[in-house]
Amino acid sequence: MTRMLYITFEPDNIKGQCYPNDTLLDVARRSGVSIASSCGGRGICKSCIVYFKDGGAPPAIKEDIDFFSQKKITKGWRRACCSRPIKDAVIHIPQRTRVANARISIDGADIWTCPDPVVKTYPILLDGGEINSDSLLAAVKSSYNGDLKHISSEILRALPDLIKDNWYKFLLVSRFGEVISILPSTSKIYGVAIDLGTTNIGVYLVDLRSGATISAEGVENPQIPYGGDLIARITETKRNADALQEMTQLTQRKINDIIIGLCEKHAIDPLSIVDIVVAGNTAMHHIFLGLSVEGLGLSPFEPCMEGPLDIKASNVGLTIAMGAYVHMLPNIAGFVGGDHTAMLLGLRADKEERTVISLDIGTNTEISLIHRGEITSVSCPSGPALEGGNIECGMRAAKGAIEKLEITMGEVIIKTIGEGPPVGICGSGVIDVLAQFYLSGELTQKGQIRSDRNLVIEGGVYFTQHDVRAVQLAKGAIRAGIEVLLMAAGLQADSLDKLIIAGAFGAYINVENAIAIGMLPDIPLHKIEQVGNAAGAGVKLALLSYTLRKQAHNLARDSQYIELAGTKDFMKSFMNNINFPQVNLEEKQL
Ligand code: FES
Repeated sequence: MTRMLYITFEPDNIKGQCYPNDTLLDVARRSGVSIASSCGGRGICKSCIVYFKDGGAPPAIKEDIDFFSQKKITKGWRRACCSRPIKDAVIHIPQRTRVANARISIDGADIWTCPDPVVKTYPILLDGGEINSDSLLAAVKSSYNGDLKHISSEILRALPDLIKDNWYKFLLVSRFGEVISILPSTSKIYGVAIDLGTTNIGVYLVDLRSGATISAEGVENPQIPYGGDLIARITETKRNADALQEMTQLTQRKINDIIIGLCEKHAIDPLSIVDIVVAGNTAMHHIFLGLSVEGLGLSPFEPCMEGPLDIKASNVGLTIAMGAYVHMLPNIAGFVGGDHTAMLLGLRADKEERTVISLDIGTNTEISLIHRGEITSVSCPSGPALEGGNIECGMRAAKGAIEKLEITMGEVIIKTIGEGPPVGICGSGVIDVLAQFYLSGELTQKGQIRSDRNLVIEGGVYFTQHDVRAVQLAKGAIRAGIEVLLMAAGLQADSLDKLIIAGAFGAYINVENAIAIGMLPDIPLHKIEQVGNAAGAGVKLALLSYTLRKQAHNLARDSQYIELAGTKDFMKSFMNNINFPQVNLEEKQL
């Protein structure tokens, strides 16, 4: 009989049990140890690098032998998802491989709107005695002439106690004629807007009467151990029958914990949260609801549902007002989800009269062209390279990541997150590396490193030829998405009045460098705007205003969608945009 193995993960000294046939990544996940796994453990990225101490490493598989130098293999370096321990082992997880403490940005321009929430409130004072649902509805009707139709079953069960506990004086909260909460008469009412991203989750606690954001918190998406990007997580649900349910529970629990934490911080009763709006890309939307993501894994990338959805908060594990609902903003198409709908609302695309491209860069980059009042969207498979994935020294935007790089007079100048020594390089730095080494002449226009060595950056951080290629593919896909949209409308880049880069990552990129590598069209810089988290602003608007929520529905319904997968125009444009644009290097190097 094979005995159970014991694995110790350093530097946190966490111990885990290893069952027969477990990979090291399986053990880490089960033990609550965070190891980067951009490809979800499929062995095709390089993010899960670890080191077996004290000679405990299993024999290296061929891919690891190809990937690591012989010296590193001998020392015990392996990829966690490709290594099955054969004896008790102590594993060191390098800082670059740990996924904790990534920089999370939830800021974005807050747009004020006159609060017009979907919930209505009625202050009620009753004479006392026994009250049932009919007499309560009649009492409200006689005072307010409101059109209350029924009381939610959750409230109904507790109705007598709720009324007596409040001494017959209370605030009744309704939503489209349904009583969803009974609160103390002096209570305020709150809502929560959730920007459910693949990497991060932004949660905003909002006063529904004043419109003020009371507090906000950003956390890493707890699904990350199941894969760094959407495709990895979708693939994981095929590989592991429990993965979908586990990810759903983790996500719902995490969001509930954040809401409870925000309430505690501000001495707010969670029962006074009477509405929630969630915006996520299609896969996040499905996983949050526990819907199958199978259709999203294969062309034609059919989601289970696209339209808006109202679901009881208690059905998705959220412990707020008893009868409250969660509203899911509608998806536009397969990989253009409710987060893009929220972004369009946040940018007030419904009022836009100019010709505008807006894009949110990620492993899938969603791009919309707004032209003559019409919106057309695409989703580009830009891959993980722009988030530091599939790059040998790549890492997410966490402490020690090189986020900016400049080459001046031959000297490489870097800036790291947290200002400490460099540990790896994150997405914004990746764009700078390509642009600056190209402009300094060390990369050819085709992306070939001129010397036969890696591009040396600093502190053991470097860029390989393979890394350059990965970024070229990512930037080529984004540029091709922009070109396809322009072509479909018969436009050229110089017809654009504005190019808006939304999203946390987009806020940090150096736009000039993005133009230098051809990721963005070469238009005047004053036409390019980095607006931060527009989706966060949009989801708050949809929470605060029923009018704007309906507007978000209209935006999603009326948006055209172009499927790029395998289309000739996209492939042609993609191939044309893999190389860097021609530049006069002598002029640039001056
Ligand atoms: S190679 Fe191990 S997670 Fe990607």
